[in-house]
Amino acid sequence: MTHTRIVGTGGYLPAKVLTNRDLESMVDTSDEWIYTRTGIRQRHVAADDECTSDLAFAASSKAIAAAGITPQDIDLIIVATTTPDMIFPSTACILQAKLGIKHCPAFDVQAVCSGFIYALTVADKFMRCGQVRHALVVGAEIYSRIIDWKDRGTCVLFGDGAGAVVLKADDTPGILSCHLHADGSHQKILSVPGTVCGGKVQGSPFVRMEGNAVFKFAVKVLDDIVEEALAHNNMQKSQIDWLIPHQANIRILQSTAKKLGLNMDKVVVTVDRHGNTSAASIPLALDEAVRDGRIQSGHHVLLEGVGGGFTWGAVLIRW
Ligand code: UT7
Repeated sequence: MTHTRIVGTGGYLPAKVLTNRDLESMVDTSDEWIYTRTGIRQRHVAADDECTSDLAFAASSKAIAAAGITPQDIDLIIVATTTPDMIFPSTACILQAKLGIKHCPAFDVQAVCSGFIYALTVADKFMRCGQVRHALVVGAEIYSRIIDWKDRGTCVLFGDGAGAVVLKADDTPGILSCHLHADGSHQKILSVPGTVCGGKVQGSPFVRMEGNAVFKFAVKVLDDIVEEALAHNNMQKSQIDWLIPHQANIRILQSTAKKLGLNMDKVVVTVDRHGNTSAASIPLALDEAVRDGRIQSGHHVLLEGVGGGFTWGAVLIRW
């Protein structure tokens, strides 16, 4: 049976950095509050002329180079995003054109902060049935455009960026298992409750969040999903070498690490420098830990995330 291996990673962060101190002059907040409650020090913000597919292209180009292939070798493109360039075409199709390739299937996945986990899972299914030799899976977001910069409860949390991986079909795993869940009954605590109708925005085009309720939900389902992934593979907590969580809040990361009995030095943390980049946060953190040599061949790496929908999931990988 064909399996899936990650053979290249890439990341891109826009040049502009917005620090907590910068935010102090924009809303009634403080560096001390933001850092203590979230672990965030700064986040990156896209330039006015940058769009999500530009971020995706930059990250993808690095992943493709790291994989030692060319864009022409790619048989499938999936982009996880909640902040697409436009209603259609999909950001994946726009990315395909920027990569200078044609014909391979390309589509977006919308699962908010779990988007990369969802996209990786879908790509893994394509690989396992032998239809695809190389897939490009991207998480890319420009949340700065759906943030109400007057709402201190949300504007301090999010950032922009993109991360990408190249997958290759192989005889050995690779991806050991994927686990996805959703529960649409909690829409009210995290959403962008707006749409475009008849040429006008209806509802709010900004992120609305009941932070506390989201926090509690996230901690609970992440505890469950890591247990599920371990049990499925008959593995013990002690066999996890690296935890790569969605980067929403350092306190959520610490809670999952505690549940796994992992020291925080086994958790890849980027939330301090990136903030919450939604679907981009996991591939950005993965790329960092691959490039700086923390993740080595044979390591067990657990990716997990939760986000609006609600959606949540995990992917367990033997590197
Ligand atoms: O990506 C997946 C989805 N997102 C998440 O996973 C985020 C989950 N939630 C969280 O990370 C946390 O709930 C937050 C960081 C959003 C908020 O932290 P908290 O400890 O839950 O604070 P809180 O919402 O209970 O607010 C505590 C106080 C409130 O003031 P009062 O009512 O106690 O007087 C807020 O108005 O902090 C106030 N507050 C702020 N103060 C300064 C809220 N935002 C800010 C702010 N600066 N930026």
